[in-house]
Amino acid sequence: MKDILLEFKVNGQPKKVYVDPNDRLLDVLRDYLDIKSPKEGCGTGDCGLCTVTLDGKPVLSCLTFAFQARGKEVTTVEGLGNGKELSPMQQALRDAGAAQCGFCTPAMEIMVTDLLKRVDNPTDSQIKEQISGTLCRCTGYYPIVEAVKKIKEEER
Ligand code: FES
Ligand code: FES
Repeated sequence: MKDILLEFKVNGQPKKVYVDPNDRLLDVLRDYLDIKSPKEGCGTGDCGLCTVTLDGKPVLSCLTFAFQARGKEVTTVEGLGNGKELSPMQQALRDAGAAQCGFCTPAMEIMVTDLLKRVDNPTDSQIKEQISGTLCRCTGYYPIVEAVKKIKEEER
């Protein structure tokens, strides 16, 4: 029964929805709010494709109850850019061939953004560790690592 009022922010916008106690954050984003970038790959916490941030920290939205977002701020990949042009990170991923089918790309961008926010000059192993929980079936991961390094080089 959808009897819990969830008030929270998504990509800077205040939202109010009635949710069931068992609703997952992933369902609320995709089905109630029509934000389709978080993907359901497994639904069991193994693929990382449903990653969003909750108050700035990456979480698996398939393992997060919607009510846990009450009073908090959720960011999806839609909240990372300006909606018109590619961000420098998105351009670097594209140039490196790191966004192919695109299924993993929203989660990858969330994880890469989190890394670059916390670590000024990440090493290859830090980049690999950061994206290791996000399943990509297309790229073999190396283009993603190269793209992250290029972003940092271009900032210098
Ligand atoms: S759908 Fe959430 S980890 Fe796979
Ligand atoms: S680009 Fe296709 S799954 Fe990563």
